[in-house]
Amino acid sequence: MLSPTMPPRLPALCLLILATPLGAEEPAPLDFNLYMQGRYVFERNCIVCHGPRGDGNGELSPTLKPRPRSFREGMFKFRTTPLGMLPTDDDLRRTIRGGLSGTAMGMFTQLSDEEVSAVITYVKSFSRRWRKAENYAPQVTLPPTPAWFKEDGARQTHVVAGAKLFAVNCATCHGDKADGKGPAAVALKDIWGHPAAPSDLRQPHLRCGDAPGDLLRVLATGLNGTAMVSFDQTLTEAQRWDIIAFLMSIRLPSGPVLGG
Ligand code: HEC
Ligand code: HEC
Repeated sequence: MLSPTMPPRLPALCLLILATPLGAEEPAPLDFNLYMQGRYVFERNCIVCHGPRGDGNGELSPTLKPRPRSFREGMFKFRTTPLGMLPTDDDLRRTIRGGLSGTAMGMFTQLSDEEVSAVITYVKSFSRRWRKAENYAPQVTLPPTPAWFKEDGARQTHVVAGAKLFAVNCATCHGDKADGKGPAAVALKDIWGHPAAPSDLRQPHLRCGDAPGDLLRVLATGLNGTAMVSFDQTLTEAQRWDIIAFLMSIRLPSGPVLGG
């Protein structure tokens, strides 16, 4: 009773469901019912942008910047896993539920938890990378925000140090003012061949999230498929927090500023 439109790449074993150990995500045989439900959710909510083939070429795509993601390469920007690795289901869930600020990727709050799980299963069916264990890795572990972050006086010293580190490590792409207009910015493309400008890091809302920990995560994981690599090996933990303190200090307000 397989439907005639079922893509030929589905393995014959797809009806088997194996248990995966808790916390360690790895290739799992496709749950066919969830896949079919996911296709339904995708066709109603995602297809206009991500396209019927999941290649990011939906009806609305030509007008959108950044372009909707192609799911066929299995490369995702916003993850808790190391550079080059697949995201966890929770990473995808965060993107689908929370959207990506400043892009056409909206917040899908109206979908049930089951529908979100189903559409994740469907999204995964577009790329073979999900079938290979070597593309999976445990989440990066991130330290908590340092206590000095909450102390105005102490933080100021870190802001000054962070500004210097930013000029050396980030300004080529993100610009001296962190407005995304560094000398290297115009030439940058992503692996999908589209212009991929460095983010304006002063924006009140970033796609990766707004908290210091969200910035730290991007510095650890990088954004797959773009020029934004991981700084795990190049900056110490203390240096990364200094840069984050600097970025938080130049963030533009999102609404009216109250009081001094
Ligand atoms: C109106 C257009 C639009 C619709 C509808 C839409 N998306 Fe997106 N989506 C985007 C764009 C644009 C991006 C790329 C944003 C970027 O690169 O920063 C994106 C990116 C993504 C990503 C990649 C995130 C990453 O880490 O790289 C996922 C996953 C995703 N969308 C899932 C979905 C799902 C599932 C649906 C339907 C429930 C959906 N999208 C509906 C426009 C859309
Ligand atoms: C080689 C160029 C390059 C360098 C160097 C670089 N970035 Fe990026 N960065 C990018 C690009 C390009 C993007 C956006 C990628 C995309 O979504 O297409 C980005 C995105 C980001 C984001 C995600 C913001 C969002 O929109 O959610 C953060 C945070 C960030 N960079 C911080 C930094 C910091 C801090 C440094 C220095 C330690 C740095 N970057 C160095 C190119 C660079």
